[in-house]
Amino acid sequence: MQRRQLIKNAGFAMLSFSMARDLIGAPLPTITNDRIQKGTTPIILRANENPHGPSPLARVAMQEAVGISNRYQWDINGLLKERIGTLTNHSKEHITLGAGSSELLGLVCLWASYQKGHVLASEPTFKLWMPAARKMGLATQLIPLTSSKHNDLERMLASINGGTRLVYLCNPNNPTGTAHDKQTLETFITQACKSCVVLVDEAYTDYYDSPSVAHLIDRYPNLIIAKTFSKVYGMAGARVGYLLAQPTMIKALNELQAWANAGPSAVSMRGALAALDDHAFVSYCKKENDNAKKIFCDGLAALKIPFIPSVTSFVYFDGAAYKKSIPTYLQSHEILGARSFEEKSTWLRLSVGTTQEMERVVEVLKMGG
Ligand SMILES: Cc1ncc(COP(=O)(O)O)c(C=O)c1O
Repeated sequence: MQRRQLIKNAGFAMLSFSMARDLIGAPLPTITNDRIQKGTTPIILRANENPHGPSPLARVAMQEAVGISNRYQWDINGLLKERIGTLTNHSKEHITLGAGSSELLGLVCLWASYQKGHVLASEPTFKLWMPAARKMGLATQLIPLTSSKHNDLERMLASINGGTRLVYLCNPNNPTGTAHDKQTLETFITQACKSCVVLVDEAYTDYYDSPSVAHLIDRYPNLIIAKTFSKVYGMAGARVGYLLAQPTMIKALNELQAWANAGPSAVSMRGALAALDDHAFVSYCKKENDNAKKIFCDGLAALKIPFIPSVTSFVYFDGAAYKKSIPTYLQSHEILGARSFEEKSTWLRLSVGTTQEMERVVEVLKMGG
């Protein structure tokens, strides 16, 4: 029975990773649940997960919330929206919650697909939602990054035309870790919002002191901001994300949800509420991320591997001059996650783990370089 369950679990794990592989593009190594149970997991640096989370307060809150999970999550949904509203100076009508922000990116695409037209985005950027958007009939127009691996905002603006329904801007951008300053962003949003809906994905703004542009939703009825608890709050598997926009836009998006029960579970939302109070944990994660990232970037510099300075929890670097294929070589040393996001490119992304994990990555790279 136990063995059968293990095989079943392994099957689920393989299935979920092969789905992720399809969505993201580049192949991801599989990690079966029995390896996780045996404690022989490799160093996992593939999806910008927080290696320290969830926060101590969120853990306790989620454990306690199991006891009330016989009830629907409506009240907690309201509490979390109110709390986010207080933090962002908005009402709960400006917020919708999702089982992770990717669910909500899909919802915005669904909305845009009804408007008939296309979505404009950078190449490369966070693309997980694109295959679903295409299936909804929303064509994607991709604008290459600048040579410094920044979103090419000028070209994006110039490419907006009568058929553009949605502009997706990931700031800081995944996989490159680059960000725009407040003024540049505001100018871009002001221009782009004249013609279409602009969706700014702020999954990584919490990792550094970047100004969020969430306040601009008061000025622009067609601006939507996506946020997540998956990164600095360390709750990727708990699945909590949210959108901020004007109430009319939020209402239009909510009408595309099956009913009020879509989105995160009561347990996850209790965790998210507690995570918002755990300031010590967030500061710790940011500091540890900076330290671990520095270890990795110093190692890359010592190996003369070019990299893009990153304000996030991952680093984009060029493996062209390295003697071996970095993804394969690291994988052979149980370090998973280095992969390419651009076609026929030698640039790779690796998530930042703990300081010890990044020391090990540098040690392995130095051995093989
Ligand atoms: C830029 C960006 N947006 C959204 C997401 C999705 O996050 P969630 O776990 O909230 O669905 C990710 C996940 O890696 C991401 O990198």
